Amino acid sequence: MTTVPPLEISLMPGDGIGPEITDALLHVFSVLEPEVGWEIVPLGLRAHEEHGDALPPQTIDSLRRTGLGLKGPVQTPLIGGFRSPLVRLRETFQLYANLRPSRHWLPRDGAPPLDLVVVRENTEGLYSAMETHAPAGDDPQGLAIATCWNSRAGSERILRFAFDYALRHGRRKVTVVHKANVLKKLSGIFLETARQLHEEAYRGAFEYEEMIVDACAMKLVMEPQRFDLLVSTNLFGDILSDLTAGLTGGLGMAPGANIGREVALFEAVHGSAPDIAGRGIANPVALLLSAALLLDHAGRTASALRLRNAIALTLRHGVLTPDLGGEARCMDMAQAIVTRLV
Ligand code: NAI
Repeated sequence: MTTVPPLEISLMPGDGIGPEITDALLHVFSVLEPEVGWEIVPLGLRAHEEHGDALPPQTIDSLRRTGLGLKGPVQTPLIGGFRSPLVRLRETFQLYANLRPSRHWLPRDGAPPLDLVVVRENTEGLYSAMETHAPAGDDPQGLAIATCWNSRAGSERILRFAFDYALRHGRRKVTVVHKANVLKKLSGIFLETARQLHEEAYRGAFEYEEMIVDACAMKLVMEPQRFDLLVSTNLFGDILSDLTAGLTGGLGMAPGANIGREVALFEAVHGSAPDIAGRGIANPVALLLSAALLLDHAGRTASALRLRNAIALTLRHGVLTPDLGGEARCMDMAQAIVTRLV
């Protein structure tokens, strides 16, 4: 009989509610996958304060070694301050594919549940964040300038990921989201690559459509059922995936994955929620669903299914944190999930 070696995972609790939801996660995993070897490493504002770097070398080394990361949210200063360690991680490990599934976990009155996936390019576009100021009139910093790019190779890499994902997961329709009517080169290269790749290698494999990002935002609100899998460039994908998270229960329920060739990093879509940090009321589900994506990625599909079933049962039973309209605390929710792991 072959035994499956235990998983080694780099765990970054992060800032704000990060340590609380990480404790909840560790509690669930102590029953679900007790053999996991966790390497707890620093990332974010606290890492910056304690180690002088929001992404210390030990964190990079750990990820390079394990190839699998799970992170809590990190707090990044608005305007000025250090660069987002998450953006640095995406660059360092070329985590080019961002996967954000959104589905209804809570029962809805008669309405069919939504089940959407947003695939976002993770390394190019406006997130390149190469910015500078230039003078305008009397103001020496009156102009803010950002340089960014989308490449044909980068577009092809993410589109191929999205199209293959659609095939593997039985998605019926792929919507390519762009703004090529205005950004004729920047967004045009993405759209052109999508058309070509679809025509050459995926014709007939799924329903293919193209949509301008602003119209897409409206249609997502008015007719979300018409979508299945959306693929877009970095910034558009970021915004649309928060929108789909809002449609399906809010940020506390939205998982995410950043996938590269050698390293995959899993994280909740939400931020560090400073408004509720330290109160023990954060919803741990988004991080747990991100861990389920990690288990899928690592080939532990039975464990992933067990976890998702326990989460669904817990929610259906009405164990809800305040963001979902309930009164359960973060650890109550974790415990309720543990008791439903069958
Ligand atoms: P946020 O996602 O932290 O919070 C937005 C709202 O959602 C808040 O009312 C918060 O209480 C609520 N919320 C978020 N997650 C929740 C959870 N698990 N349970 C219950 N309620 C939850 O977004 P915000 O306030 O814009 O950003 C705060 C900080 O987080 C910023 O420093 C930002 O840079 C950072 N951030 C980090 C991200 C990451 O590490 N991936 C992603 C987004 C923001």
